[in-house]
Amino acid sequence: MEKNSVAIIPAAHEQTRSYDTEFRFRQDSDFWYLTGFPEPDAVAVIDPSNDKSPFMLYVRPRDMEMETWFGRRQGVIGAVKNYKADASFPIDKFAIDLPRLLDGHDTLYYRFSVDKALDQQILNYLSNQRLRRLKTAYPPHTIVDPTIILGEMRLHKTEDEVEMMQTAATISADAHTLAMKKVKPGMNESQVEALMESYMRSKGANGVAYNSIVGGGDNATILHYVENNMPLKDGDLVLIDAGAEYQGYAADITRTFPVNGRFSNAQREVYDIVLDVQLKCIDYTKTGNTVRARQNYSIELLTEGMLKLGLLKGKTKDLIRKKAYMKYYMHGVGHYLGLDVHDAGRYFTDQAAKSSRPFEPGMVLTVEPGLYIPPDDKSAPAKYRGIGIRIEDDVLVTEDGNRNLTERVSKNPDEIESIMQKPANRAARNSS
Ligand code: GLY
Ligand code: MN
Ligand code: MN
Repeated sequence: MEKNSVAIIPAAHEQTRSYDTEFRFRQDSDFWYLTGFPEPDAVAVIDPSNDKSPFMLYVRPRDMEMETWFGRRQGVIGAVKNYKADASFPIDKFAIDLPRLLDGHDTLYYRFSVDKALDQQILNYLSNQRLRRLKTAYPPHTIVDPTIILGEMRLHKTEDEVEMMQTAATISADAHTLAMKKVKPGMNESQVEALMESYMRSKGANGVAYNSIVGGGDNATILHYVENNMPLKDGDLVLIDAGAEYQGYAADITRTFPVNGRFSNAQREVYDIVLDVQLKCIDYTKTGNTVRARQNYSIELLTEGMLKLGLLKGKTKDLIRKKAYMKYYMHGVGHYLGLDVHDAGRYFTDQAAKSSRPFEPGMVLTVEPGLYIPPDDKSAPAKYRGIGIRIEDDVLVTEDGNRNLTERVSKNPDEIESIMQKPANRAARNSS
């Protein structure tokens, strides 16, 4: 932070799901990263020039009746005792304290347009101070959006964070392995979703990091298919994109495998191409390479794959120039992963020149190439129509390469078949 500055970082609020019920609360990622405080309706004030209380938390006060109805609260004592705030006050006092908190500081770190009510309090303060014509007032004259700074901090994971991400990854990977063992024709996509999410929560995850995608057959060609309510058919593939959230940290894994435990030749042909590209792009995710170069690399490799399968015709270079590959591969090869599934951090080192960012140790990125052949695509060989395949792992960039956090769930097709064919797994499937 700049000299003589102060930061105001709000917590999230509960969100209405319908009428008078709320979604399960999820803390704001920046607030969580900085404070670890789990409750809604709080504000952190960070003022390094305040010798006594550089870190203050405004929180919901203890309230017997409210707590009986809606759950326990830390209150101001808990905020100090359990969350290491130097001082804590009831949230109702925040608007009253605001002039005292901000006056005399040159810089205010605050992100507008996330918390509209808080925006209004800060705007009110600024306009009141303006009326005083700076004769007696000294409001901050520079307002800095802390998004980029916090994004940089969050982008490079500490050892502790890596450990939590590894836990999220391990729980998620094992949920995928469980699905491989249990899936059989006739099972509903919703049952697979329930099975995996139940496993995640039973292993200490707070829930899923994003809505699970369980798409059988050509549902796999819909990128954000989340209905998850169709029966899985013999002879089809199922694409599962599901990841747990552990201590706020996300995992993001996709596996695609045959519902009946055996790939058809056509499915295997497409699968082998996606897997080969995925392995190469994992290798590529290391210091020295850039995010954009990796994207281009995935496009080049997948375009060659499309040529091999007969999905496209022509020269690789021309097809890339004309973006012909976008018919079958229309998303990025990966993204930063952390507290948010599409995590904070800049993808460019120089926004004006759009210089792509090199991978750096401590970054975690997904690697998720895919091929999606629409069911009614007359130009594709008939045997490939309706096949959608994505394979996604989570990779930590290290000093000397990378570490695949989600390695423990199989993606080698022979290995997947042997897991699904194992007599014990087949027997369990047939008896349930
Ligand atoms: N599951 C979201 C993503 O893969 O980006
Ligand atoms: Mn995913
Ligand atoms: Mn992803």
